[in-house]
Amino acid sequence: MATWNDMIETAEAKAEQTGNEGRIVNPFGESSQPQPHQTRLLDVRGLNIEFVTRQHGRKTRFTAVKHADLHVDLGEIVGLVGESGSGKSTISRAVVGLNDNYTGTIEFDGHELGRKRTREQWREIQMVFQDPYASLDPRLTVRKMLREVILYHKVVMVTQADEYCEYLMNLVELPVEMLDALPAEMSGGQRQRVAIARALAVRPWLLIADEPTAALDVSVQAGIINLLMDLNKRLDLSILFISHDLNIVRSICERTYVIYHGDLVEEGPTEQVFSHPANAYTRRLIDAIPKLSSAYVERLAAGTNDVEHDEEQA
Ligand SMILES: Nc1ncnc2c1ncn2[C@@H]1O[C@H](COP(=O)(O)OP(=O)(O)OP(=O)(O)O)[C@@H](O)[C@H]1O
Ligand SMILES: [Mg+2]
Repeated sequence: MATWNDMIETAEAKAEQTGNEGRIVNPFGESSQPQPHQTRLLDVRGLNIEFVTRQHGRKTRFTAVKHADLHVDLGEIVGLVGESGSGKSTISRAVVGLNDNYTGTIEFDGHELGRKRTREQWREIQMVFQDPYASLDPRLTVRKMLREVILYHKVVMVTQADEYCEYLMNLVELPVEMLDALPAEMSGGQRQRVAIARALAVRPWLLIADEPTAALDVSVQAGIINLLMDLNKRLDLSILFISHDLNIVRSICERTYVIYHGDLVEEGPTEQVFSHPANAYTRRLIDAIPKLSSAYVERLAAGTNDVEHDEEQA
């Protein structure tokens, strides 16, 4: 019976077969692309995020993230797990620059990211959200969406933009004909691939994937997970992977953070966190993982791209 680990091995084997140590060489050249200087790519220290809410007409302060220390190294896939409302998205929004109302420091590649990000800083960290339909503009074709980002960030010259769009479609394993489709004409899995292509268009070093498969059918989920693993290997892309699904996190993340009510209560190599959790909350979380039924595992194993394209039509 195939498991996540079997699928991961397949993804790894596929990456190795591409040669050049599994890296995809951008046809438009790497020379214009600055490379990171540090192994410690993301370094978050003492991140504190408060919200002011109104309850019964009275203002109350609520600390959603409490002095969080978190880092992601070059090429790592790091998990962030915790129950709903524990502060996972709040951390990721601050890191990606969507919320500047925090205290503490967020360093990237050895430089502190200011409250106001430069265009280059926006490029370095990209995010993929849970709901690909909400995150894509319904009026724009895939091509227009990608061109907008490519040209704004001057990734390639205008004359190369269409070819670069095709390169991105290959990267996320979508047919190039889909460049002229609207989001409504695509399946959920295909839309999430487009969201990933748009994030990768600017050649980020860190991708924050916030529950990227939660809105998708299980068979489609496996295809997206495989794609992310493949991209991690082939592009040296670091990934902060946020998920409720501890089975997926255990399978793909090298290190894992556990967050509980805004506190990062545990951090360590994933296997250690799962097999010898130091924290009582982590132990409860792990005990609550539904044991994989054989039917579930079979559906995961069936999650090839072909299944996604065949079964899940818009
Ligand atoms: N803009 C906001 N104003 C007030 N409270 C907020 C705001 N954004 C988030 N919160 C609160 O902060 C807490 C953490 O929310 P967050 O969205 O980070 O949780 P999460 O771990 O991502 O949950 P989920 O798994 O459901 O996505 C929640 O209690 C939420 O209600
Ligand atoms: Mg969230």
